[in-house]
Amino acid sequence: MKIAMVGSGYVGLVSGACFADFGHEVVCIDKDETKIARLHEGVMPIYEPGLDKLVESNVKAGRLTFTTDLAQGIAGAEAIFIAVGTPSRRGDGHADLSFVYAVAEEIGASLSNDAVVVTKSTVPVGTGDEVERILAESGTTHRFAVVSNPEFLREGAAIGDFKRPDRIVIGAQDEFGREVMREVYRPLFLNESPILFTGRRTSELIKYAANAFLATKITFINEIADLCESVGADVQDVSRGIGMDNRIGSKFLHAGPGYGGSCFPKDTLALLKTAEDYDTPVRVVAAVVEANESRKRAMGRKVLDALGGKDAARGKRVALLGLTFKPNTDDMRDSPAIAVAQTLTDAGAAVFAYDPEGMEAARALMPEVSMCDDPYTAIEGADAIAIVTEWDAFRALDLDRVKQIAKAPVLVDLRNIYRPADVRARGFEYVSVGRS
Ligand code: UDX
Repeated sequence: MKIAMVGSGYVGLVSGACFADFGHEVVCIDKDETKIARLHEGVMPIYEPGLDKLVESNVKAGRLTFTTDLAQGIAGAEAIFIAVGTPSRRGDGHADLSFVYAVAEEIGASLSNDAVVVTKSTVPVGTGDEVERILAESGTTHRFAVVSNPEFLREGAAIGDFKRPDRIVIGAQDEFGREVMREVYRPLFLNESPILFTGRRTSELIKYAANAFLATKITFINEIADLCESVGADVQDVSRGIGMDNRIGSKFLHAGPGYGGSCFPKDTLALLKTAEDYDTPVRVVAAVVEANESRKRAMGRKVLDALGGKDAARGKRVALLGLTFKPNTDDMRDSPAIAVAQTLTDAGAAVFAYDPEGMEAARALMPEVSMCDDPYTAIEGADAIAIVTEWDAFRALDLDRVKQIAKAPVLVDLRNIYRPADVRARGFEYVSVGRS
């Protein structure tokens, strides 16, 4: 079957390449000419493990093509996915839907066959209704249905998540929509991946509720970690102890510097806006957003404490290891590292950082931070070393070398990747999250 993917960013490109790998004929469309030209040369616009190879093999097989021409790209497609960005609108936190609606207008104006239009972008409840209205008003004579099909991909693991999903959610209002989507996901039906058919509004809400729930789980364990520090308990054991209860589940209970990234911060805010619009408060989510926001700077203060307090920090040197919001991505969006670095530089400390993939994006966001070519250059002469993102490279640091080149052997591990006893036995002062 022919599929068109409008928007060749993170979600569009991963989904398009995976659909092609299922055997569909996929056209990825984007109005950014440079992006499309580079994709033609095999250059990926984002860092995602395995994506370049997947794109290359499907392009070679003739199943995956790229274009800037929407009308040409959607011609003959039975399913047209909208996978453009829905950033937080400046000022009010609402999802900015202008890109989604602009694409819907363009699809309406160029539709040349019957098709199902699918919103893959994360869109607030009711967006599908609006897309349907735009298409209806375009005057198209072709049959169409508007379906919601949210993605649940994690950056860094997106291809695996796409091919072996926990579930696929499809919100459709009629049989035409359901039938085409069954065909789109047939290879996964065969894999026995569970597919949940719902109404369109329900499907739109599922995406926000899932992300808000996960953000809540993280924020909950982060606050329990603070309590562990106060009462002398160990948060990793608390996570294990509660996670063994199947009703709770063991995942997403790693205490750390707070969640970041392109989804949780934006989607929790957008959910709050929807709740406000409908005068139906979701107080738990409001508390999560507030707690996570203050946590990021609190983690900066934790590093300051390790330096001897805010007043002692002036002129001291801190090595930041890891800048991206999580490992295996080059994404710096809403990364806790930004607030941690800001707190340190505000106190007059000099920050030297290293990240395997994120430094290019970080340069613009953290102009006061000096970027280093490797972890040891950042550590050289440091009064404290802070691990902010749990890249594998930092799990295997040569601690003897670190101790030799750092000015003071002070390690602040905001991701709990080391065992306190091991690090202390090597002569380090060691601070982590929710453990003593
Ligand atoms: C998330 C959702 O997992 C995915 O389903 C959705 O489609 C998009 O948003 P992603 O943003 O790629 O994916 O990252 P994820 O792995 O979920 O991590 C989000 C943030 O939470 C990171 O900053 C991570 O470090 C943090 N986190 C995650 C924790 O601090 N503790 C945890 O236990 C898990």
